[in-house]
Amino acid sequence: MLTGKKVFLIIAGGISAYKCLDLIRRLREQGASVRCCLTENAKEFVTPLSVAALSQGPVYTDQFSLKDESEMSHIELSRQSDILVVAPATADVMAKMAAGLADQLATTLLLATDKPVLIAPAMNLRMWLHAATQANLATLKSRGIHVVGPNDGAMACNEFGPGRMAEAPEIMAAIDAVLNPRRPLSGRHIVVTSGPTVEPIDPVRIIANRSSGKQGHAIAAALAALGARVTLVSGPTALPDPEGVDVVRIETAREMLAACQAALPAAAAVCAAAVADWGVKAPAGQKMKKSPGAPPPAIELIPNPDILATLAAPGAARPGLVVGFAAETENLIEHAREKRARKGCDWILANDVSAAAGTFGGETNRVHLITADACEPWPVLDKRAVAQRLADRIAEALS
Ligand code: CTP
Repeated sequence: MLTGKKVFLIIAGGISAYKCLDLIRRLREQGASVRCCLTENAKEFVTPLSVAALSQGPVYTDQFSLKDESEMSHIELSRQSDILVVAPATADVMAKMAAGLADQLATTLLLATDKPVLIAPAMNLRMWLHAATQANLATLKSRGIHVVGPNDGAMACNEFGPGRMAEAPEIMAAIDAVLNPRRPLSGRHIVVTSGPTVEPIDPVRIIANRSSGKQGHAIAAALAALGARVTLVSGPTALPDPEGVDVVRIETAREMLAACQAALPAAAAVCAAAVADWGVKAPAGQKMKKSPGAPPPAIELIPNPDILATLAAPGAARPGLVVGFAAETENLIEHAREKRARKGCDWILANDVSAAAGTFGGETNRVHLITADACEPWPVLDKRAVAQRLADRIAEALS
């Protein structure tokens, strides 16, 4: 429902700028008002006149038209809008946003606003995949900037891949999602595990693993965004705490289990942590010293508790829905099905962690949702999109 919503559209200089004319028309058809600002380069792709005609309002193009106080009002106008949408968001504009530049009116507005910002990236696929653009994207996301697209497809430069701007209906759905957040999980408590666990060998050495915690943290954030009260039990990660989530920091698998059990009751539990399968039987109290000629120490390992299986075990405290991940490097579906049965959980997200898939520490995930009677392949998605999809499914299942 966009009726009465005030959208401030910033059009940057990319070939897909022409699609914004359709976007403006559709937004107005839905009852939204649209004010537009063109970057210097955007004027090469669409004319201010067409934009003014479709938006039925003034089009702002140049910071130096801020001659007097009355004209300063368009900074004010951007603040009075409900949302700022940047479409197309070019690599250049994204870089400027990430760097906090205010070199022209569009970037000044983006720096000056306190309203939600949605960007619809569009660029050549190599520019999109470039480490600099991906780093800028990560920075913008970490600051709460919403992102829609880009889509895969044929590009104006005769290449095929990610970089096409999302279509107008997708951008409108994304605007709607930002402005009218659904809260179907409000009143529900959900426990999420994330990150690695670390097992001490002595006071300075640990057994650890490569989990970044990105997927588990994104799941916690997505569940919280749907209104759930989320307890995130996490091993050490470099990630900021997700907004609106209670974070319990632990190190070992045993600490993780204790924290999860202390957090119960819960309507659901999602175990996304990469829990060490073994801990050190007797961690040394002091730093282990080497002596010349002595053999390396033998470290005796003991099995760690299985947190997922423990939470999924039948009993009064069992959350209504228990979800695990199956990190596999081969025979993904078969191993994941077997794991679901063995651990007694309701759903397993089967996750390809072979080196080729780039899941560990990477931004994307290719998962299959395995339930008692189905195996649903999901497309390759950004870890946040996996989290969003899972949160939506959990909301459906608990409703
Ligand atoms: N898990 C857990 N506690 C453990 C081990 C795993 O909660 N001690 C959870 C993980 O969070 C994940 C699921 O179990 O949701 C599967 O983890 P995975 O590492 O793929 O499975 P393992 O049980 O370690 O099985 P294997 O090493 O045989 O693949």
